[in-house]
Amino acid sequence: MIALASDHGGFHYKERCKTLLDELGLAWKDFGTTSDESVDYPDFAHAAAEAIQRGECDRGIFICGTGIGISLAANRHKGIRAAACQILEAARMSRLHNDANVLALGERLVDWPLAEKMIRLWLETPFEGGRHERRIGKIEIEE
Ligand code: RB5
Repeated sequence: MIALASDHGGFHYKERCKTLLDELGLAWKDFGTTSDESVDYPDFAHAAAEAIQRGECDRGIFICGTGIGISLAANRHKGIRAAACQILEAARMSRLHNDANVLALGERLVDWPLAEKMIRLWLETPFEGGRHERRIGKIEIEE
């Protein structure tokens, strides 16, 4: 199950994601927003990130204007590794080396054909494990 979340700045791509995931035969759950009316991206990032933490969703695609704010909010959650990506190679490496469980995209920065390619690549790229397992294990800190 893929968790989808956006603010108003990423709303249109979130809707396009649903069609793409349907085509790929992947189930999704939409955590909002529901229109392009102005909202606050953390509200949607937190709701969707919590669903991943609970195990209701396996991973997520979160979208705002830049992908930055929504990834920052998502990354406050233990166990969430959200990667804000603007080029294909970043999307690929975020899976191979970082085991990113959230792909964050910026609707205002990346055109849809590239965003679609990034989503497809991100979804199909496995985590390499090995030495990267140790490194991602060191990301979380106790405060
Ligand atoms: C909203 O205007 C915009 O700030 C938001 O979508 C995002 O880009 C924040 O990082």
